[in-house]
Amino acid sequence: MLTVTSVLFVLFAVSSAQQLTFTHHAVLDPNEKFQLNWNPATDGSDYFTFECVVATRGWLGLGFSSNGAMAAADMVIAWVDASGNPQISDRHGPAQGNGYPPADIKQDYELISGRKNDTHTIITFRRKQDTCDPQDWKITSDTTRLIWAYNDQVPTSADDISKHTERGVKSVQLVNPQTKDGMATILADPRTVTYDLRITNVTLPTDKRTLYWCEIIELPTWNKHHIIANRMMVQKGNERYVHHLVVYGCGEEDMSEHLGKPAACFDDTQVFSPMQMCTDYHAVWAVGGEDFVYPSNMGAPIFGNSKQRFVLLEMHYDNPDLTP
Ligand SMILES: *[C@@H]1O[C@H](CO)[C@@H](O)[C@H](O)[C@H]1NC(C)=O
Ligand SMILES: *[C@@H]1O[C@H](CO)[C@@H](O)[C@H](O)[C@H]1NC(C)=O
Repeated sequence: MLTVTSVLFVLFAVSSAQQLTFTHHAVLDPNEKFQLNWNPATDGSDYFTFECVVATRGWLGLGFSSNGAMAAADMVIAWVDASGNPQISDRHGPAQGNGYPPADIKQDYELISGRKNDTHTIITFRRKQDTCDPQDWKITSDTTRLIWAYNDQVPTSADDISKHTERGVKSVQLVNPQTKDGMATILADPRTVTYDLRITNVTLPTDKRTLYWCEIIELPTWNKHHIIANRMMVQKGNERYVHHLVVYGCGEEDMSEHLGKPAACFDDTQVFSPMQMCTDYHAVWAVGGEDFVYPSNMGAPIFGNSKQRFVLLEMHYDNPDLTP
């Protein structure tokens, strides 16, 4: 009897100390120093729960911004203080420009836990999807620019937050359903076929930071299918240059004369003429986008019409450092 009781206690202790599990994850910086895990508000809860795992022993900041700037952004700053107690402060960006973010009048971020070890600070907190505070950001299914920052200095209070030493921005979809699982289910279904649209190799110019590149692709003559999901494939190592993609259908236009002649979609002197004919959206992707999965009772027809044989793939490459 005594043995059974002690076993039960052990089990209880383990489960109460269990970490929260998260369905979503993003690395916000290229050096993997700022990692974010979260659970979106789901049925029965208005709350988003976030966990920041950051390579600092000072403060960390996360913000929601319309354009990646601090101005008017919703921000939260958190740290583990000198006594080992986690602290959190709901703040907002200045009305214009970058600068010190004042504390919100209404504090809407709730600390769940916080700890640090020799290298990292881990803070877990939650907030409502819509806090009804004009100094906060209402989280939507749109792409959100998450701004992040940290500094190794430990604040003595919420009024003593030194300027960040590291900062950045990352586009993330915070609300979208678990498309990774949706895609896995679709790919495991024997009725699913995949079709890859590939752009011919492109050399980025070294005199333009941004390039819109267009190529006409001929579809195979298959029976009618429905697009039920799409996934962006970016060649490894090129992630930082690929900014967006659009796949347009060209209706019943015969585009065969444009095959094998990819070109800039537009530049100072000309426009890639098929752009005017190919205007039906089949798929879009942009930085931060994940797999796209249609609801289970929906799809977009493709193939099956021998006259609609061409698509235009429009790529946007961004090369701000003019890397050859
Ligand atoms: C500190 O925490 C981070 C993040 O959880 C972890 O990756 C790292 O291994 C930890 N370091 C030690 C020494 O436990
Ligand atoms: C395009 O680039 C890939 C990857 O570098 C390479 O394997 C392939 O041979 C190239 N194709 C052409 C036609 O240059």
